[in-house]
Amino acid sequence: MELEEIKDVLKTKLSEKRFYHSLCVMDMCEKLALHYNVNPDVAKLVGLAHDIAKEMPSDEKIKYAKENNIPINDVELASQGLLHAKIGADICKKQFGFSDVMCKAISLHTTGGEDMDMLSKILFIGDGIGLDRTYEEADYIRDLAFKDLDSSILYMLNLTIQECIEKNRPIHTDTILARNWLLMN
Ligand SMILES: [Fe+2]
Ligand SMILES: [Fe+2]
Repeated sequence: MELEEIKDVLKTKLSEKRFYHSLCVMDMCEKLALHYNVNPDVAKLVGLAHDIAKEMPSDEKIKYAKENNIPINDVELASQGLLHAKIGADICKKQFGFSDVMCKAISLHTTGGEDMDMLSKILFIGDGIGLDRTYEEADYIRDLAFKDLDSSILYMLNLTIQECIEKNRPIHTDTILARNWLLMN
């Protein structure tokens, strides 16, 4: 499916705010892709569609995962917001015909993971530094992402882990694996 058609589908599934976020991530993924010699058209598509399942109600997410054989681990069951990544990847594969590499990037965009390829890295960081993001460290990470992509991801993973600790939330194992993988490679 073409970019404009996907935009039309997203408009039916996302609030105005989330749709705007998706456009911001799309733009940032394109910039990062051009900077790091990755196909910008592919990066735009994953950036645009990455949160397609974000506003699906929790019970629907669980139902979708069960019906489509998407494994749910205990942390995802406890923090069901996390599930939108895997479900979004599945929807993009089935509805838009996205490739495995594109779906992997969408699947890992919230937690990160081991063996992230360039597209996965670009979407992971692009999601956190789109121009809609205004948290304290956003400008710093935005700048870092264009200088040292891996360091920017590590920084973002550390922020995520710190937030989980502060709020006493479980940490997804993929986030820990991603951090270890980046530190040891
Ligand atoms: Fe997301
Ligand atoms: Fe997002």
